[in-house]
Amino acid sequence: MSEEIKKIKITIDGKTTEVLPGTSILEAARQIGGREVPPAMCYYSKLESSGGRCRTCLVEVSKGSEADPRPMPKLVASCRTYVMDGMEVKNLSSERTREARKAVTEFLLINHPLDCPVCDQAGECSLQDLGYDHGAEQTRTEFERRTFDADDIGPNIKLNMNRCILCARCVLTASQITESREHGILFRGDRAEISTYLNKALDSDFVGNIIDVCPVGALTDRTARFLSRVWFTKPMNAHCACEKCSGRAVLWMKGDEIVRVTARKNQWNEVEDWICDTCRFEKKEAEKWTIEGPRHVDRHSVISLNHYENPEYEHRLLDNPDAKEISGRDEEDIKAKNTFPNV
Ligand code: SF4
Ligand code: SF4
Ligand code: FES
Repeated sequence: MSEEIKKIKITIDGKTTEVLPGTSILEAARQIGGREVPPAMCYYSKLESSGGRCRTCLVEVSKGSEADPRPMPKLVASCRTYVMDGMEVKNLSSERTREARKAVTEFLLINHPLDCPVCDQAGECSLQDLGYDHGAEQTRTEFERRTFDADDIGPNIKLNMNRCILCARCVLTASQITESREHGILFRGDRAEISTYLNKALDSDFVGNIIDVCPVGALTDRTARFLSRVWFTKPMNAHCACEKCSGRAVLWMKGDEIVRVTARKNQWNEVEDWICDTCRFEKKEAEKWTIEGPRHVDRHSVISLNHYENPEYEHRLLDNPDAKEISGRDEEDIKAKNTFPNV
């Protein structure tokens, strides 16, 4: 008979939760939700050995555990530090944490270009969010930034190394979900850069997912680049019959035109289901998809500020019992939502 595993307690900024042993402080914070959750630019729960690289998730441990209540002398990376029973953590309530995060943000931006007005990631960029929440108002750097030319690293993927924060998510994704990894981080320290192996191009079946895991605009979809600012598109849940992946995706639409296809992401901006490159890059015709309805985006995008839900599609939902079942919303809910103006 299996023994029930005893949960342990952790308190973050005064809010307590219980987690299984082996849970990181970051995952415990996500369980609590809200402002207690530290930002994470390199950790990705779906990728083994992610985290520990960007230091944006630093927190102060003011009480180590019930058994040893001494505080931890240094700030710790919450994605790589595991909860002890009775642990007390300070996230935004700690001035040391806020100061450190500001410094980390400044370091991440030291070589970063002012590309937001032309960057495809703008509006759904974790670095923009980080800069807004924790950055300084002005830069102190006066020296020349290191610069690279944008590079086509495969038939469908563009690398803008200038924007890369070397989080290594794309490398782990290519290692862990594609058959062969053809790129990596070359050199070390301030010379480090993402590059493909000599004469190699990224074109394996699932490699397009590296675009979705990239927290910044360093990796972009060549089939969708510059076609639209993200806030002018409407994300729609859709699915198709696909032999390689679940076929569950988000279509970013402008009118009836599909501008781009991405995987569905959860509230932590992490992919729910990896999608294959055929769905992502080659199915740009609406008739290849069954549209389920508007996707609610609650953070990580300026479009969450708009009521983009489209009455026209909602009415199609009301007329289509199958779609209604998939969307999980009842008639009252759909009608209530339609009181918002369409944008
Ligand atoms: S990656 Fe983000 S912060 Fe950098 S230029 Fe693009 S939108 Fe701006
Ligand atoms: S290209 Fe993107 S995902 Fe890859 S290391 Fe750079 S920032 Fe991270
Ligand atoms: S998210 Fe923890 S170090 Fe990057």
